[in-house]
Amino acid sequence: MSARSTPRGYCRQFTRQQNRKPTRFDILVGPQEPYIFSCTFRFLNASDKKVLVFTSCQPPIPQKILAKMTKSYPTVTEDYQNAIEKCKRKLRGLIAEKNCAPIMVRLAWHSAGTFDCASRTGGPFGTMRFDAEQGHGANSGIHIALRLLEPIREQFPTISFADFHQLAGVVAVEVTGGPEIPFHPGREDKPQPPPEGRLPDATKGCDHLRQVFTKQMGLSDKDIVALSGAHTLGRCHKDRSGFEGAWTSNPLIFDNSYFKELLSGEKEGLLQLVSDKALLDDPVFRPLVEKYADDEEAFFADYAEAHLKLSELGFADA
Ligand code: HEM
Repeated sequence: MSARSTPRGYCRQFTRQQNRKPTRFDILVGPQEPYIFSCTFRFLNASDKKVLVFTSCQPPIPQKILAKMTKSYPTVTEDYQNAIEKCKRKLRGLIAEKNCAPIMVRLAWHSAGTFDCASRTGGPFGTMRFDAEQGHGANSGIHIALRLLEPIREQFPTISFADFHQLAGVVAVEVTGGPEIPFHPGREDKPQPPPEGRLPDATKGCDHLRQVFTKQMGLSDKDIVALSGAHTLGRCHKDRSGFEGAWTSNPLIFDNSYFKELLSGEKEGLLQLVSDKALLDDPVFRPLVEKYADDEEAFFADYAEAHLKLSELGFADA
């Protein structure tokens, strides 16, 4: 079990209650079976904080349960939850009518992808509402998404911008035929945009992708490849990014064709960025590209998990 999937909520509760060295204990998290965690106490780097680290678990915890264990979601009012459900329905209609799913996914991703896990700044906290962030070079064209969303935004003034922008991304994936991504409301809007320069550069390769996604955001290699599959949607626009063209021949359908195209090489009329092609040259990334090209279900499962993580960076951490 990786440190990232450590159920920290339980960890704290346990250390408070006992001060001796446990090696094994049971936690009942499912309705029927107990999950047996092996664990040990460790010091955290240079700090004097001692934490309980979970080293393995039998049987392996299903992702759905794990997601709940690693997060401590805020409780929202019934009115707020109802507003979210209603807003979701309106977003489905708008995105289908305007064929604007790609730019909604890009909006949600560019909001969340600024998260810096070291300073815990940036992230999916509604700061794209500020002109300053919309003006960042990487966000060229994002104002179009915000303009399209305005009529719905006006109908749901109680929903935070943070929830609203992430909800738009989740709905966009769903209405184009992609996987269902769980949505947990309750993000609060941050008062200031993050500094410019945290989003990835399309002209760079694997080291850069890991610098941004792994070191800065705290995501995994698997997340990098799965999330890159969002380029199954949409296109590059000369006047926004300087690049031109779509990655697939069906840019309004969320499927695994991005990976198929990537493996089949460059084709007239389609585009592959340096950061896309880089996935083919890396010994960890390439097998995942091959797996997703071959198995759409596996791609959908990993994409949903990665998108969920992205949309909740810095939110509801236990
Ligand atoms: C891996 C690093 C990435 C780089 C370097 C990158 C770069 C780009 C660039 C240059 C564009 C073209 C923007 C335009 O001209 O309109 C674009 C579009 C897009 N990106 Fe990415 N991207 C990356 C990752 C992601 C991720 C993680 C997602 C979502 C989870 C995503 C979703 C999209 C979508 C949906 C579009 C199409 C937007 C439209 O059609 O308007 N990208 N990306």
